[in-house]
Amino acid sequence: MSRSPSSASGPLSGRRVLLVVGGGIAAYKALDLIRRLRDRGAAVRPLLTESAQEFITPLAAAALAGERTHTDLFDRESEAEIGHIRLARDADAIVVAPATANMMARMATGHAPDLAATVLLATTLPILIAPAMNVRMWLHPATQRNLATLKADGVTVVGPNEGAMAEAEFGPGRLAEPHEIADALEAMLAQRAQAGGFGFLAGRETPKRLAGRHVLVTSGPTHEAIDPVRYLANRSSGRQGHAVAAAAAEAGARVTLVSGPVALPDPAGVTVVRVESAREMLAAVEAALPADLAIFAAAVGDWRPAETRGAKIKKDGHTPAPLTLVENPDILATISARTEGRPPLVVGFAAETDQVLDNARKKIARKGCDLIVANDVSAEGGVMGGLDNTVHLVARDGGVETWPKLGKEEVGRRLVARFSEWLAARPG
Ligand code: C5P
Repeated sequence: MSRSPSSASGPLSGRRVLLVVGGGIAAYKALDLIRRLRDRGAAVRPLLTESAQEFITPLAAAALAGERTHTDLFDRESEAEIGHIRLARDADAIVVAPATANMMARMATGHAPDLAATVLLATTLPILIAPAMNVRMWLHPATQRNLATLKADGVTVVGPNEGAMAEAEFGPGRLAEPHEIADALEAMLAQRAQAGGFGFLAGRETPKRLAGRHVLVTSGPTHEAIDPVRYLANRSSGRQGHAVAAAAAEAGARVTLVSGPVALPDPAGVTVVRVESAREMLAAVEAALPADLAIFAAAVGDWRPAETRGAKIKKDGHTPAPLTLVENPDILATISARTEGRPPLVVGFAAETDQVLDNARKKIARKGCDLIVANDVSAEGGVMGGLDNTVHLVARDGGVETWPKLGKEEVGRRLVARFSEWLAARPG
């Protein structure tokens, strides 16, 4: 981008932002956002969808940005001059404000009928979206599903805020204020820098650190059958384990993912072995060895019913006999204790609700693994089943690394990067 920003010393100085403006009454606030981003030192390149142009003009955006506004996928002049692929690359971040329900749906499904959607599909830059829409559209399960997909893809979200809406309704759906969007952009860029520059879909650029290695990952909960229709389970979603498996595949490894029952798609490029119970999981893990790196992220049930009934237990008007439980095999401890065929690096997870580090240190000794990834799963954190995670890496020598709160995808990539370093540093 050629023009000079308004402030050379602001917190966003030297940053180049592609601002995608969606259609909606809140589009008028995008003009204020351009001004504020420039005040903080950023260079802003506006891109207006066709419907955004019903609310603000390309000329107004260009005048405030000091840069021409991009509008059309088949704009001859702009395609010759800059092209959508360059638009998708030639910035430090993309901000979508307002992000309409339609825009979020396009982003979540990869449907790209116009310039904005094409750029968003073609980019590997970090993306911040500021949703704005009618409260009912925001709360609709379809939009909430798209939101979850976008977050899982690594998109950062600011707002929407609660308040009175243009249609005389009240609730969440108002565009975050321009200063809040600018703050969120600063935070996102700072976090990316701290995380080592992993951008949206950065896997495409991940160095193939694990080429030639076999990585084994367990993920998800287990189901321990009581009878043909009932089982004991836990709240694990499998998101973190699946993200680690995906990141290992991105890093060039051959990956076997042994997964309990989850509602997640299989990660690309990964061999998935589906199991239900802890005993099936152990058998599948043993069958998948040897491995260079084994990561036990599954929330394995500690106990199972002593017996599984062959037929559904009937109510029969009386309380059934209490369940007798027996302990499940500890997969992590079993594999760590192997004298033959023990993977050179064995990693466990510790989901704790209190004294996270203390318990992790004890667990590393008890299980015999090399590293523990510990996280706080107390109800307030929303980690179990949630999209974010704050982890501590605890090594056998007691060393601890604590990372900031990150998306589980990002945690997966960073874990794989760290494990690769450990693996490379280990003798033999
Ligand atoms: O003892 P706890 O369940 O807290 O330990 C968690 C770690 O041990 C995780 O890495 C989990 O995958 C692993 N584990 C296992 N088999 C079990 C119980 C836990 O592999 N039966």
